[in-house]
Amino acid sequence: MKALCWHGTGDVRVETVPDPILEDPKDAIIKITSTAICGSDLHLYDGYMPTMEEGDVLGHENMGEVVEVGSVVKNLKVGDRVVVPFNIACGKCFFCKNEMFSLCDRSNPNAEMAKKAMGHSPSGLFGYSHMLGGFWGGQAEYLRVPYADVGPLKLSNGMPDEKVLFLSDIFPTGYMAAENCRIQEGDTVAIWGCGPVGQFAIKSAWMLGAGRVIAIDNVQERLVLAATEGGAETINFDDVDVYDALMEMTDGRGPDSCMDAVGCEAHAGGTLDGTLDAVKTTAYLATDRPHVLRQAIWACRKGGTISIPGVYVGFGDKIPIGAAMGKGLTIKQGQTHTHKYMPMLLEKIENNEIDPSFVITHEVPLDDAPEAYEMFKNKEDGCIKVVLKP
Ligand SMILES: NC(=O)c1ccc[n+]([C@@H]2O[C@H](COP(=O)([O-])OP(=O)(O)OC[C@H]3O[C@@H](n4cnc5c(N)ncnc54)[C@H](O)[C@@H]3O)[C@@H](O)[C@H]2O)c1
Ligand SMILES: [Zn+2]
Ligand SMILES: [Zn+2]
Repeated sequence: MKALCWHGTGDVRVETVPDPILEDPKDAIIKITSTAICGSDLHLYDGYMPTMEEGDVLGHENMGEVVEVGSVVKNLKVGDRVVVPFNIACGKCFFCKNEMFSLCDRSNPNAEMAKKAMGHSPSGLFGYSHMLGGFWGGQAEYLRVPYADVGPLKLSNGMPDEKVLFLSDIFPTGYMAAENCRIQEGDTVAIWGCGPVGQFAIKSAWMLGAGRVIAIDNVQERLVLAATEGGAETINFDDVDVYDALMEMTDGRGPDSCMDAVGCEAHAGGTLDGTLDAVKTTAYLATDRPHVLRQAIWACRKGGTISIPGVYVGFGDKIPIGAAMGKGLTIKQGQTHTHKYMPMLLEKIENNEIDPSFVITHEVPLDDAPEAYEMFKNKEDGCIKVVLKP
């Protein structure tokens, strides 16, 4: 089959690789009909994520048609149309039973590698390094789905792929990130990053009762989308000091919750901490650039909440943990427990409360994926979200 393979920093290629086969009776194989490029894929593309290997197939936002099922799979049959969560979960361990699917204890065959880096292993992920399972992703013609009875969400309606594809990741991610803000009716929520995750976080913050949403970025079309589609007030961090702007907008008190929907590759212009991060990551003295997290902790009101859906991969330097302590902040973060949110968010789509396709700016054949990665990374041609068609 054709698949998008990782070959190192800034180097992805569409190649012919062996078709996936059933490796376990609990597996299913799906033929991909739509798959998206995520901001998380950029961390791989930019070489931030350890334990990637040449030839790894990328892609964790996947949907398609079931073409083969293992002998013990009960919930799926050939021909079913499914959207697949980006995390792989067994459905039976302590963490799965408690709806912490991204922390599944059994789905990462390389758990020992992850333990060395984190103390314990999170779940396996599609197309996201060997430390997280070494599973091939779905930016390909076919995908092997482990624990097929647990993850894939069956679609019985005729809704187009574009409306349901993002149940695989960014819609649940935005929603859980907003939940992690612990929003009280009328709260002010500030969201750093107006990428696809930020856009869904904005919508979700309203759903959960926010009174004001303030969105921060420096990419004009993303700020415009946050304002028009999302109804957010916006701050362009190129134009103003973010802390000063937020204080002015909240009478000096600070937002009730602050969300970092940017993660380890924050842009920091000529700021002192940003320059330090740039020097340290270039010299391999640091792994992440936590400029946004610092700013969020600094700006959040006393007793407020920090929500971090943005991905960090290693050790964050100069995080103002003293300010977080002194101000009594609550910090919540993590990979999304996607399985938990999919049915409920599908219902919102079916009820026309939201049409997730609003973030899509480009739809291209899988063959054009390498150019699409470059365009998405550099935010060329107004690119906000790319859907690939194998
Ligand atoms: N927790 C999860 O399960 C999960 C799931 C999906 C994505 N993610 C992560 O969420 C983050 C966002 O994903 P995305 O797809 O929206 O990515 P994206 O790269 O499209 O968006 C990131 C946005 O942040 C903006 N940004 C950069 N520096 C900034 C700064 N200093 N202040 C404000 N904004 C700044 C960029 O301009 C960009 O618009 C990524 O780190 C991704 O890995 C996490
Ligand atoms: Zn993703
Ligand atoms: Zn489990």
